[in-house]
Amino acid sequence: MNLPESSQVQFTPDMRICRILNGMWQVSGAHGSIDPEKAISSMFTYYDSGFITWDLADIYGPAEDFVGEFRRKLASARGAEALSNLQAFTKWVPQPGPITRRMVEESIALSLRRMNTETLDLLQFHWWDYQNNNYLNALNYLSELSDEGKIRHLGLTNFDTEHLQIFTDHGIKLVSNQVQFSLIDRRPEVNMIPYCKEHDIQLLTYGTLCGGLLSEKYLGQSEPRGYELNTASLGKYKQMIDAWGGWSLFQELLITLKRIATKHGVSIANVGTRYIIDRPTVAGVIVGVRLGVTDHREDNTRVFNFKLDSEDHELIEAVLGKSRDLYQLIGDCGDEYR
Ligand SMILES: NC(=O)c1ccc[n+]([C@@H]2O[C@H](COP(=O)([O-])OP(=O)(O)OC[C@H]3O[C@@H](n4cnc5c(N)ncnc54)[C@H](OP(=O)(O)O)[C@@H]3O)[C@@H](O)[C@H]2O)c1
Repeated sequence: MNLPESSQVQFTPDMRICRILNGMWQVSGAHGSIDPEKAISSMFTYYDSGFITWDLADIYGPAEDFVGEFRRKLASARGAEALSNLQAFTKWVPQPGPITRRMVEESIALSLRRMNTETLDLLQFHWWDYQNNNYLNALNYLSELSDEGKIRHLGLTNFDTEHLQIFTDHGIKLVSNQVQFSLIDRRPEVNMIPYCKEHDIQLLTYGTLCGGLLSEKYLGQSEPRGYELNTASLGKYKQMIDAWGGWSLFQELLITLKRIATKHGVSIANVGTRYIIDRPTVAGVIVGVRLGVTDHREDNTRVFNFKLDSEDHELIEAVLGKSRDLYQLIGDCGDEYR
């Protein structure tokens, strides 16, 4: 199983990435027990199949340490050159409050140490509270660290379009914003995509598979109760489905996606991923991986074997047209966190 050339995109002039990124929130707890040894050996299988790009965060439990250990093992088994074919995108998620240059330096130094690298490929900045405008200081200090070579590229996560504009107006160079984007949650279409298009900012998306709900496993199933949603991710996106239109409309969507999937010889998850990967400004879809627990690499490879046609889009639109407008209900990207 190897991913085709079309699975990659030139993310920045110096970096090609896999358009399906491996999401590491799933190693941070509340997604089943993760055995570190098994997890790191399974990181080799992702790397060897072409899934070479990882999404993580300082707050995702051992994720940065796993990347550090994987980098050490990869370099020792395959030589240091093997590291150039691997990207690890982390996040800095500070508590809102006064931000000093020293705090930023120490946080980035910690991530560098944990990840066993001299430069972070991409640092995605998250901020919980817009009322506290120290986020601008934080970004200015991060830009300085980027100029000094500690951070290769600077991105954001969960910022809305209004704040993205504030940063670009301040001359801060941002390559990406990471946001929730799926067939259920299409809020980025309203303001985010048009703004990103105009300012050459790319989107990395999460929640695209709704924690696994967007799959054959839930097709034809009765509405799961709270205790049956046994990962934090399933719980999070079930709430999103409830707000969007509820379980019976979701079943209607799954039936439609299955029809499309069968036509192309792929899975429901493949259709959900392909739909988002093809949206303007989307560089990649992050798919959560439960390392050493489950493995969907083989199925996810098929995302790059087919295209959705106009008939498929019409069928999908006919169902999505019946849903509530999450932009009206929640607001712009990331507003659910504030
Ligand atoms: N910036 C943020 O605020 C934020 C928030 C959430 C997530 N994220 C990032 O996005 C990543 C994705 O996490 P997510 O919570 O949004 O989950 P997700 O990617 O929507 O769902 C992941 C789950 O989908 C299932 N799956 C994957 N491929 C499949 C396939 N081909 N067929 C059927 N099921 C499949 C697996 O479930 P099973 O393991 O049960 O089989 C997997 O654990 C996170 O790890 C993190 O890196 C970022």
